[in-house]
Amino acid sequence: MSYDTWSSSSWRTHPIKHQPAWPDQARLDGVLKELAGYPPLVFAGESRRLQNQLGRVANGEAFLLQAGDCAESFAEFSADQIRDKLKILLQMAVVLTYSSGVPTVKVGRIAGQFAKPRSSPTETQDGVELNSFLGHMVNDANFSEDSRAHNAGRLQQAYHQSSSTLNLLRAFTKGGFADLNQVHAWNQEFVASSPAGQRYEDLADEIERALRFMRACGLHGGNVSEIHEVDFFTSHEALILDYEEALTREDSLTGDWYDCSAHMLWIGERTRQLDGAHVEFLRGVKNPLGCKVGPTATTDEVLGLCEALNPNRIPGRLTLISRMGADTIEADLAPLLAAARDADYPVVWACDPMHGNTFTSDGGRKTRHFDAVMAEIQGFFAAHRSEGTWPGGVHVELTGDDVTECLGGGDELATVDLEVRYETMCDPRLNGRQSLDLAFGVAELMRA
Ligand code: PEP
Ligand code: CO
Repeated sequence: MSYDTWSSSSWRTHPIKHQPAWPDQARLDGVLKELAGYPPLVFAGESRRLQNQLGRVANGEAFLLQAGDCAESFAEFSADQIRDKLKILLQMAVVLTYSSGVPTVKVGRIAGQFAKPRSSPTETQDGVELNSFLGHMVNDANFSEDSRAHNAGRLQQAYHQSSSTLNLLRAFTKGGFADLNQVHAWNQEFVASSPAGQRYEDLADEIERALRFMRACGLHGGNVSEIHEVDFFTSHEALILDYEEALTREDSLTGDWYDCSAHMLWIGERTRQLDGAHVEFLRGVKNPLGCKVGPTATTDEVLGLCEALNPNRIPGRLTLISRMGADTIEADLAPLLAAARDADYPVVWACDPMHGNTFTSDGGRKTRHFDAVMAEIQGFFAAHRSEGTWPGGVHVELTGDDVTECLGGGDELATVDLEVRYETMCDPRLNGRQSLDLAFGVAELMRA
């Protein structure tokens, strides 16, 4: 593939998939014009900071934790929800940092994750055919003609919700909520109440001793800011390109273009065509990028993505997020790792152990089993071990809430439990306790 001159609208001449069919062009134009005049949600310098941290991951000197909802909701929007999601991420990060011995780069699927690609543009229920739900940035999940209409005004609501989510995240992460000792105390509460607690207790005790040692040496939140504050970054799938273009700005310091809707943007499995609009748009913005790679990805496609999205081979610029399925990950991933390594492309390799392991339960619920999720992560580590590459991170769908959407985990959720609190608008998420089970499970893999 050769690429022509880029501009923030050059994607418009490329084939594009999974866009809404906005019914009113004049309304859309009005909304986009307003969005283009709004303040940026993130700053270019923050995206550069994230890219530097991801560069350390590419070099094997840090680990990436990227996590959050499959689809954020306009309805489920509260300070408590944001706090609880952040809390789980921070708890997971402490466990991962201690067991890997390297910093954990923390990136939420949050403050902008409002658009979903769907397998079919329409959905039929009892003989009635309506638009599929495409995420709250586009329409509502309710099955009625009105709810499912594509409404451009929702782009503005997505912006405003992202803005206030980010505001709270900034306050929490820099205002004392993320204090290491506090986060560790939450982990101890989890360990004490988990049926799998015994297995986790040794690790939690070691962390306890390390923290006591640090305090005894005079390292505490009062004099070491890293103990009291954390960097936390935002990301979402850059799907609706009208929205992303409207938030794309030229950085006054460098003259480079940044998509200021989030620190990091990724391309989904369904929109990663090399000549497609999504690759065209994202190749020109300087944010760190992600791209999903599923079981059909060939080595040529992966090298094509590396060349399109990171031709200058900058470590941290490109994260490839594999989502193969537990059964085939080792065989599917190893050749891709080898191809990128042999062509000298620095890649942050992250494992999405969710999207290749979805199935429908007997009761008709879309779900995932915790054991399959862990098995895919295990296969991911094994593939990296055999290729001599660094298993850079995990990318998971989770919530801090006590939902029952995925099976298994320390509390051994069963199929009947899915009826208790199944709330996701899209894919099934790990609940808070299953997420911590995952972190302790990854810790065990890292130490093995
Ligand atoms: C997602 O991350 O929610 C998603 C749709 O994933 P994928 O593009 O890998 O299918
Ligand atoms: Co999903």
